[in-house]
Amino acid sequence: MSDRLFIFDTTLRDGEQVPGCQLNTIEKIQVAQALENLGVDVIEAGFPVSSPGDFNSVVEISKAVIWPTICALTRAVKKDIDAAGEALKYAKRKRIHTGIGTSPYHIQYKFNSTQDEILERAVACVKYAKKYVEDVEFYCEDAGRTDNIYLAKVVEAVIKAGATVVNIPDTTGYCLPTEYGEKIKFLMENVKGVHHAVISTHCHNDLGMATANTMMGILNGARQVEVTINGIGERAGNTSLEEVAMILKSHKNLNIDTNINTKHIYPISRMVSGLMNMPIQPNKAIVGRNAFAHSSGIHQDGVLKNRESYEIIDPKDVGIDDNTIALTARSGRAALKHRLNVLGVDLNQEQLDKVYENFLKLADKKKDINDDDVLMLAGKDRLDSQRIKLEYLQVTSGVGLQPVASVCLNIAGEKFEAAATGNGPVNAAIKAVKQIIHRQMIIQEFLIQAINKGSDDIGKVHMQVEHNGINYYGFSANTDIVAASVEAFIDAINKFVK
Ligand code: KIV
Ligand code: ZN
Repeated sequence: MSDRLFIFDTTLRDGEQVPGCQLNTIEKIQVAQALENLGVDVIEAGFPVSSPGDFNSVVEISKAVIWPTICALTRAVKKDIDAAGEALKYAKRKRIHTGIGTSPYHIQYKFNSTQDEILERAVACVKYAKKYVEDVEFYCEDAGRTDNIYLAKVVEAVIKAGATVVNIPDTTGYCLPTEYGEKIKFLMENVKGVHHAVISTHCHNDLGMATANTMMGILNGARQVEVTINGIGERAGNTSLEEVAMILKSHKNLNIDTNINTKHIYPISRMVSGLMNMPIQPNKAIVGRNAFAHSSGIHQDGVLKNRESYEIIDPKDVGIDDNTIALTARSGRAALKHRLNVLGVDLNQEQLDKVYENFLKLADKKKDINDDDVLMLAGKDRLDSQRIKLEYLQVTSGVGLQPVASVCLNIAGEKFEAAATGNGPVNAAIKAVKQIIHRQMIIQEFLIQAINKGSDDIGKVHMQVEHNGINYYGFSANTDIVAASVEAFIDAINKFVK
């Protein structure tokens, strides 16, 4: 008999803490429904006390999702737990995830407290959360750097107080896989009543060991894993859902099953990347563009003779369909709609018509339209609804010429024009925009990436603009990289000019 492993997805909470990747409530609902379709057991939908937006997202996700448990994060603070209890009102299955730091760093420096006081607070917050829900998960923040004897004491006390799940986060991504595995083993062997709760892993990837640590946790008795799509999350991110799911599917001898329908992995990976404007590194395991691309002659020969010579996963198992119909200028709406559906994007007729119109314009400039292009087109109407829009841009540049740019911005229906010179076409165009928008703005980060190969490719631009000490993120994609740069700058400006 195989063991069941519960998949707790925190893409919408820990994953969403990535600066510049915040989603609005409608986008979060779209991701939550795709997670439900994927088969996750728990969706951590947000941290309700942190902002009205987060509170509202937990409420709306609770209404929109049926099967997975909806979980809300809190600190070990009554007002946080009250907010979580209230936000979860509509959830069919609900969980409060509360907790406190247990390492010396947290106890001494963050709380200026003692181990005994922290233990008391841990028990009190579990008991308080029990007033709202039956299912209470407790996290021992920075458990990775917490002494195992004290950790076992906390885990035992919170289980006695009613915790149904206890989370052992390696918050800083510090642990070695052997160390993390031993920690879980120690708890399984030394905590009285441990079998009355599920022990959960929550690993960060600061040293690139998140998946290895999670696997060691599972092998030593953890039966819930906290993961995100594409491994997104603060700093180096969290453990990737797709990596754990495919490890368990590939290593059947471990006898551990999940409820994940792996065929939905690729679409949701693209959906999350597109909505959050977070490119996936090409060599990312399972979902990267090169994950199944064999370029060396020896590999190609081997794969053609027998796929398993060099491939341990069938791309179809993660939803990558080799037989996709190429999208070109001759493709109809139905083909585009099919591709959008495969990528997890569901549009109404009016939205589809608009995307199709832009698709035809792009197909005139670019021979083959790939998945990233399709997702970029689907997200383009976000720019159309902004207050400040780029009406036109004209640039002259070249060897031996002084780059000069003229821009026209449409600000809430009124048109403003300016021209400027610069040390390059982007610099000239940005200076022209700054002549119209008189604000203090410093570009802190500017990244241009080609999505695929070929000089007809689309350039994606990510920009970080500082205004009054706060960083705002802008994004755009265009076959013209100067236009993409100016659009990304305007996207960022739209976030602080209301
Ligand atoms: O990394 C961490 O410790 C967390 C907790 C808040 C669960 O995200
Ligand atoms: Zn975390």
